[in-house]
Amino acid sequence: MKPEELVLPTVAALTPYEPGKPIEELQRELGIGEPVKLASNENPLGPSPRALAAIKAALNDLNRYPDGGSWALRQAVAARHQVAPEQIFMASGSVEVLNLLAFLFVRPGLNTVFSEHGFAIYALATAAAGGEARAVPMRPGYQFDLDRIGDTIDRNTRIIFLDNPNNPTGSIFRRAEWERLLARVPDHVVIVADEAYFEFVRAADYPDSLNYHDGRRLIVTLRTFSKIYGLAGLRVGYAVASGAMVRLLNQVRQPFNVTLPAQIGAIAALDDAEHVRNTLKVNADGMAYLERELTRLGIDYVPSQANFIMADVGDGRAVFDALLRHGVIVRPLGAYALPRHVRISIGLEEENRRLITALEQVMSARAKG
Ligand SMILES: Cc1ncc(COP(=O)(O)O)c(C=O)c1O
Repeated sequence: MKPEELVLPTVAALTPYEPGKPIEELQRELGIGEPVKLASNENPLGPSPRALAAIKAALNDLNRYPDGGSWALRQAVAARHQVAPEQIFMASGSVEVLNLLAFLFVRPGLNTVFSEHGFAIYALATAAAGGEARAVPMRPGYQFDLDRIGDTIDRNTRIIFLDNPNNPTGSIFRRAEWERLLARVPDHVVIVADEAYFEFVRAADYPDSLNYHDGRRLIVTLRTFSKIYGLAGLRVGYAVASGAMVRLLNQVRQPFNVTLPAQIGAIAALDDAEHVRNTLKVNADGMAYLERELTRLGIDYVPSQANFIMADVGDGRAVFDALLRHGVIVRPLGAYALPRHVRISIGLEEENRRLITALEQVMSARAKG
């Protein structure tokens, strides 16, 4: 028998997640000397220097298995958020938690609800568990419609996934709509607040979901070391949830899900306030520059609270391909049902300049036909 006939039909039909194009691939394909990668919302400053030093010092212990319970890291994260260590689940990136939650709570006949143009993994994780993925349309301007998300929940809904800020639009939902939604979510629904870009947000009425863990609702807050701390390659993120939820997650994870360098590096990164400050400055300056330049080029964009910005270039795939030839990698958004757009991660000053120079040439060549 063919293996695909032995799995759930939703699994056989899956299209795998398409990551940002790696720099090495572009170098191989086009022989481009020094490409600029603005495709995966990474930290352009590099990893936290404190994390790097701690990891280097720990490399001689790589013959040992890591602490399967990530004890020291959980203590540090719990202290940071002033919650009990039993409320912290450490993971191989926050994506691991998304998959484990779907594995735990979703099965054929059940569904998850999330926003259209939301993070791609929500639909994938749901389908992998055999559930129905319900993408709820956004309001004009690529804004969340939490009221409609509330309307879409039914007795078979087990998870709502909310990434705030949203990847790839960069938009956020505000305190009032979040509180309105919370008031009506039935108690059989797990509310996932995916806050991968939490630290970048500047809006005053942004709701920090950690303030809503009241022991009554099934809220899972996700945070990551991949973005603000610059450790995407290490794979380390975490969930804050009730002790009971964390116990369930522990029951289904693999025994050593967070590597030794990841645990050591993340602990050191937590204390690297200077790197965090520098990252926020680079991001704010780069965002202001890109907003100014996109406006000058007559390109519409969605105001963003994250470390990337989504721009309407008319034909995202064509502009992505043309930018590649200039050695600049952005993210086309066909997989997000946004064929007109590209997502641009904020880079260093020089990288942002290279992007704008290339984009100006590409757009003017396209205008001439
Ligand atoms: C909304 C959102 N959630 C989660 C993640 C995954 O982060 P991690 O590297 O922690 O798995 C990303 C990564 O791009 C993201 O955009």
